[in-house]
Amino acid sequence: MTTERRFYIQTFGCQMNDHDSTTLADLLAAQGHVQVDDADDADLILVNTCTVRDKADQKAYSQLGRYRFLKERKPELILGVGGCMAQGEGRRVLSRAPFVDLVFGTQTVHKVPDMVRRISERRRRMVWVEMPNDSEAMEVFYAHTRGQGPKAFVTVMQGCDNYCSYCIVPYVRGSELSRPSDDIVKEVERLVSDGVREVTLLGQNVNSYGQKGGDGADFVELVKKVAGIEKLLRVRFTTNHPKDLSDSFIELFAQAPKLMPHIHLPLQSGSDRILNLMNRRYTTGDYFTLIDKLRAVNPDIAITSDVIVGFPGESDEDFEATLAAMKRVVFDGMFSFNYSPRRGTRAAELEGALPKELLKARLAELQTLQKEHGLAKNRRWIGETRPVLVEGRSKAGEGQLMGRTPENKIVNFAGEAQWLGSEVLVEVTDAGVNSMVGVVV
Ligand code: SAH
Ligand code: SF4
Ligand code: F3S
Repeated sequence: MTTERRFYIQTFGCQMNDHDSTTLADLLAAQGHVQVDDADDADLILVNTCTVRDKADQKAYSQLGRYRFLKERKPELILGVGGCMAQGEGRRVLSRAPFVDLVFGTQTVHKVPDMVRRISERRRRMVWVEMPNDSEAMEVFYAHTRGQGPKAFVTVMQGCDNYCSYCIVPYVRGSELSRPSDDIVKEVERLVSDGVREVTLLGQNVNSYGQKGGDGADFVELVKKVAGIEKLLRVRFTTNHPKDLSDSFIELFAQAPKLMPHIHLPLQSGSDRILNLMNRRYTTGDYFTLIDKLRAVNPDIAITSDVIVGFPGESDEDFEATLAAMKRVVFDGMFSFNYSPRRGTRAAELEGALPKELLKARLAELQTLQKEHGLAKNRRWIGETRPVLVEGRSKAGEGQLMGRTPENKIVNFAGEAQWLGSEVLVEVTDAGVNSMVGVVV
C-alpha cells in the first residue's frame, strides 16, 4: 500500500504542459492521493517545467529555490520536477538543485505515482527521463483525463519532427507520434459525459496528424469524427504549421459548424530570408495565400500568431518586413518573444546575435502595433450578437460571467451561475485589447 499524499502541482509553459499536469493530477487522485491548492499544505510538490526560452529555465529554478525552504521545514516533503526543462537537463537538475527528490521527463509522466511510492519507501532520489516514444504508455496516461468544467484539452499527438532551427521542443518532446483517432474519439466521448462542451485538440503541428502513428485518419477526418459527437458544441485545435495547412482543412471551416472560426497560425517572421534560416519551409507569400484562402471561406475568422523578434542577423529590413506582414494580415492576437538561443539547436550556432537594447526596442515596437490591431479587431464586434459558451464567473465583478465567442474572444457579461457550460447569445457593447463586454439578449 502506498501512503496517500497531499499533492500540489505547479505548471509552466504551454497548453500541452497544462494538459499533462491536469491528467497527472487525475492519475494521482485515482490512486488515492489528494490535490491541494496551496504548496504549504502539500507533502508532494511537482513542478511541470518549460524550456522554450532561457527565461523559462530561470523561472523553474527560482521556483525550486523557493520550495527548498519548505523542504527544510518539512523533511518528509517530496519535491519532483518534470516536463520540458527537466527532460533537457536530466541529471543536471540534481547538481543544480540537490534538494530535489524526483526528476521526470515529458514521456515518463505516467511513472510519477510509482516513483513517488519508491521514494517514500526508500528515501532515495530518482531520475527517469528516457523517451521511449511508447504509444501504449501514452494511451494509458491519457485514459486518466477527466472533464472538469465545460472546456477540456485533448492531446492528439506528441513530439515534433520539424526542427525549426531556433526550437528546443523536438529535443525535449521527442519525435512526432499520433494517437489513433478511435482512442481520441473515445476520450472526447468520456469528457462529454463528464459535462465538457468544448475540446481543444492539441499537438505541436496538428496538420501533420496521422502521418506517423495513428490509425490512418488525417486531421480532417479526425476533426469530422470528433465534431460528430453529440452534445459536444465546439471543437478547437492548436498549433498549426503553415507548411502543412491543407485546402481540405481550410474548407472544413465552411463544412463543420462545430469547428470554431479561429486559427493560431505562427508566422515567426515576415522576412523570407529569416524564415529560411529558421527552417520554416514557407515564404511570406505562401503565408498570405493561406490567409486569403481562410478569409475567403470565412471573412471573420480570427487569426492569431507567434512571432520571434531578433533572430540572429535580423536586419532593420527584416524587422520592417515583419511589421509589414502584420499590417498585411492584421492579426486578432499575437504572442511575440525575443529570440533566445537554446542549447543543441542549429540557430544557437549562428553569428549575428543582436544587442539586448535593440531586441527590446524592436519587441516593444511590434507589440505596440499589435495592440492597435487587436483593439481594432475586437471593436469590430461591437453591436453584433454572438453565441458565448459560459466558462465561469468573471473577475470583472459580482454577478458577472465570462465566456468566449466562437472567435475565442473573451466576453464579460451579467448572468446567472446556472448558465455555466451552456451557450447564450450576447450582444457585444464594448471592447478592449484583451476582452469584450456584452449583454445577454
Ligand atoms: N509547435 C508550436 C509551438 C512551439 S513553442 C508551433 O510551432 O507553433 C511556441 C512559440 O515559442 C513558437 O511558436 C515560437 O514563436 C516561440 N519560440 C520557440 N523557440 C524560441 C526561441 N528559441 N526563442 C524565442 N521564441 C521561441
Ligand atoms: Fe518548435 Fe517548429 Fe516544432 Fe513548433 S513546429 S515545436 S516551432 S520545431
Ligand atoms: Fe510547451 Fe514549453 Fe515544452 S512551450 S512543449 S512546455 S518547452
